Amino acid sequence: MTKALFVSLSLISAALAQSNTTNNTAVGIEAIQAHFSNAGIVPSLLATFDPSALMTVDYSGVGDIQPGQALSETQVSPTPSVSITPANSSVQLGSNFTLMMVDADAVGTDESAGQTRHWLVNGVTLGNGTSAENVTTSSGIAITEYAGPAPPSGSGPHRYVILLYKQPDTFTPPANLSTANVGVSVFSLSSYIQETGLEGPVAGMYYTVEEGTATFTPSATSAVVTSTLPVPSGTSSGTASGSGSSPSQSSNSNGASAAFGSISSLFMIAAPVLAAVAAI
Ligand SMILES: *[C@@H]1O[C@H](CO)[C@@H](O)[C@H](O)[C@H]1NC(C)=O
Ligand SMILES: *[C@@H]1O[C@H](CO)[C@@H](O)[C@H](O)[C@H]1NC(C)=O
Ligand SMILES: *[C@@H]1O[C@H](CO)[C@@H](O)[C@H](O)[C@H]1NC(C)=O
Ligand SMILES: *[C@@H]1O[C@H](CO)[C@@H](O)[C@H](O)[C@H]1NC(C)=O
Ligand SMILES: *[C@@H]1O[C@H](CO)[C@@H](O)[C@H](O)[C@H]1NC(C)=O
Ligand SMILES: *[C@@H]1O[C@H](CO)[C@@H](O)[C@H](O)[C@H]1NC(C)=O
Ligand SMILES: *[C@@H]1O[C@H](CO)[C@@H](O)[C@H](O)[C@H]1NC(C)=O
Repeated sequence: MTKALFVSLSLISAALAQSNTTNNTAVGIEAIQAHFSNAGIVPSLLATFDPSALMTVDYSGVGDIQPGQALSETQVSPTPSVSITPANSSVQLGSNFTLMMVDADAVGTDESAGQTRHWLVNGVTLGNGTSAENVTTSSGIAITEYAGPAPPSGSGPHRYVILLYKQPDTFTPPANLSTANVGVSVFSLSSYIQETGLEGPVAGMYYTVEEGTATFTPSATSAVVTSTLPVPSGTSSGTASGSGSSPSQSSNSNGASAAFGSISSLFMIAAPVLAAVAAI
């Protein structure tokens, strides 16, 4: 009994020791990839999404948002601060980026006419000296200054997708999107990426805003169960099984189901260890 307890405590502390920032970043990247698929952002908005960094989006008064979190227009009216944590120390992100936010509409909406562009800044840079690097837009050219969401009432939960792309050295914006303050309008994200040669996205995040009651039934999104995610490279399986389920993707998501609540993730890391001990 004493020995079993000792074994279980040592295994738990070993598991907790593994639950450090680098590994949480890797698991967070796996999670946002799964969220983009399950919410239909891949493939309706992006053909693929293979980020090399984790994006953190912070709205004043809300804090760091969770993937797919349901927010109100008021909550997302201020310009958020965005920071980027590379997957690991061998990732070289580069220096010149384009930051954008587009409205991917409700799941299942025909996006062939393009997307409403709520934010588009070329020449964005990252801060330095910390692992979570703040995105600095003041150095760039704000083609579209941040404009908070205002989806039409009854049009369902719109998915607002924030993306960071690496600008190639040859980056040349389309003529009609090359000067500051063009404003909000519809564009085709895929055409824009194709014309400019932007690389990535290197990181992304999304949330939803819904006004009124949907006058149709939006397509369902599936839940992300992070315990079923593949093990990120360089991460032990004990850690990767760690984040618990996050059913935050139903169209009425309230965002409360944080995938990475530190307390629940510690429990979930410990759970398989306890299960393993119980089996001894
Ligand atoms: C994270 O884990 C790795 C491998 O176990 C270790 O080398 C690194 O020091 C840990 N980092 C922190 C901040 O604990
Ligand atoms: C670092 O992250 C990148 C991007 O996710 C990945 O391709 C690479 O395998 C990782 N390297 C290590 C050593 O974990
Ligand atoms: C960064 O991007 C901006 C805007 O596209 C451009 O004017 C600038 O020359 C770029 N800087 C570098 C170092 O590539
Ligand atoms: C990096 O940080 C140092 C110290 O804060 C600062 O002097 C320097 O300008 C920064 N470089 C860039 C590219 O932001
Ligand atoms: C990043 O931004 C946050 C919030 O805007 C700020 O509190 C923090 O000091 C910034 N970090 C760096 C390294 O500039
Ligand atoms: C820019 O021009 C393209 C055609 O080249 C058009 O599809 C797009 O709507 C225009 N965008 C703006 C903001 O005028
Ligand atoms: C994650 O944790 C495991 C177990 O300690 C460690 O072997 C691995 O190096 C860590 N991954 C990274 C990217 O630090």
